[in-house]
Amino acid sequence: MSVLRKKSVEQSIADTDEPEFRLKKSLSALDLTVFGVGVVIGAGIFTLTGKAAHEVAGPAIVISFVVAAIACALAALCYAEFASTVPVAGSAYTFSYSSLGELFAWIIGWDLILEMFLGASVVAQGWSAYLGTLMAQLGAPIPPAIAYGGTVDVMAILLVLVLGGLMTFGIKESLRVNLVLVAVKLFIVLFVIIAGLLFVNPANWSPFVPEAQPADAASGLGQPLLQFLSGIEPTAFGIGGIFAGAALVFFAYIGFDVVATTAEETKNPQRDMPIGIIASLVICTILYCAVAFVVTGMVPYQDLDPSAALANAFVFHGADWMATLISAGAVAGLTTVVLTLLIGATRIIFAMSRDALLPAGLAKVHPRFRTPWVISILVTIVVAVVAGFTPIGVLEQMVNIGTLSAFVLVAVGVIVLRRTRPDLTRTFKVPLNPWLPALSALASLYLMLNLSVETWLRFLIWLALGFAIYFAYSRRNSRLGQPGYQEFALPHVVSHQRDDSDDDPRR
Ligand code: ALA
Repeated sequence: MSVLRKKSVEQSIADTDEPEFRLKKSLSALDLTVFGVGVVIGAGIFTLTGKAAHEVAGPAIVISFVVAAIACALAALCYAEFASTVPVAGSAYTFSYSSLGELFAWIIGWDLILEMFLGASVVAQGWSAYLGTLMAQLGAPIPPAIAYGGTVDVMAILLVLVLGGLMTFGIKESLRVNLVLVAVKLFIVLFVIIAGLLFVNPANWSPFVPEAQPADAASGLGQPLLQFLSGIEPTAFGIGGIFAGAALVFFAYIGFDVVATTAEETKNPQRDMPIGIIASLVICTILYCAVAFVVTGMVPYQDLDPSAALANAFVFHGADWMATLISAGAVAGLTTVVLTLLIGATRIIFAMSRDALLPAGLAKVHPRFRTPWVISILVTIVVAVVAGFTPIGVLEQMVNIGTLSAFVLVAVGVIVLRRTRPDLTRTFKVPLNPWLPALSALASLYLMLNLSVETWLRFLIWLALGFAIYFAYSRRNSRLGQPGYQEFALPHVVSHQRDDSDDDPRR
């Protein structure tokens, strides 16, 4: 059998109808938007804005946010089209299964596991760092041995265990907690924008695009692949700085793609999925640009704190209580990011196990909670261990490369599926196909080239491991490869929204 064997879109949807694997369909467009904003706004805006403005872009970091948003918006359109056509769990993984074939699907699923596992671990560590700062500001510091940077980051481990428990209990319940925390986070971000305006000095925005100057070039394995390959002397600031800043702040947008992993639990995925994905991205872009504009107006970019710019911009003006409030907001904000990434990781593995590319027994859904409880527990344990025991600051770029590689394949997948299955009902279509999807793939590739050589090497090792598992296990066990597994056409499930409310005993 060819390595390019595919599962049809109809088959992907039919598989989700098997009772033992069926998830509860309860999410609305608003739930999805909250879910999206919950995972997107996090460590990126609270830390990277200051770092990028200080080191590479100056006040023009506002433009960097717009550039990164354009790359994400192109990817979001592709995700929205796919999610509205193939409403099953697994995000880019499932989409590529039905368009590019099993091997590509495996690779992309493997990349997404990287994105979400490491993303959840890294943000849990960041949460622990903010908690430490907050407790110190409140005069009750956490003992160093169990805090961020200590022997074992017990705080990060506890966070992951609590959130993992919520996730196992039920996604709707998790989303309720998420809603409260997202509200707190939005309040804090709006607070930074509005209160920050009081301290703005417009002179800080001049020059808005600081003149280009030689950068303290990262060398060896730490330099961006593009620079390594081209040998171009790197500069900071100027126009180049805007793009370098965009590659850096891309992290702040990661997560809207996770919305697509819940397609199967959405009441009306064809309508709600595009709304959820695009609305979360639009809301985050507006907030990010506003925060970046205000913060660079509050403090000269040379004086911005690269690690905690938002809170320290207020300390700079003597408003310490506001800084404490912002640290508290960061603690709430990062909590929701970890929760959503945990849910995303679970859903990807769920989809891969259901296809038996990973052991199928993992994908059993709990009879009462209707969540994939075995996977939820496994994900929780692994993320807790990684968050508790690995050093911070090493793995963030791996999150970016995992995400960007998925973006590239999804964009290619949109073009391929339009050609191979023009008959499918697409309630949302990317305009100007194939040009916009092609542009999306190129934009993501360009950002990938700005990641370090070291990151590329680690990524290649991860891929090699993925290939080894695929050929040693997944290919042989795949449901698609089993003799009794038949492709069958179910056109109605694609063209109409499924309503399984009658046969679900819980309703
Ligand atoms: N976008 C997420 C964050 O900024 C990953 O934390």
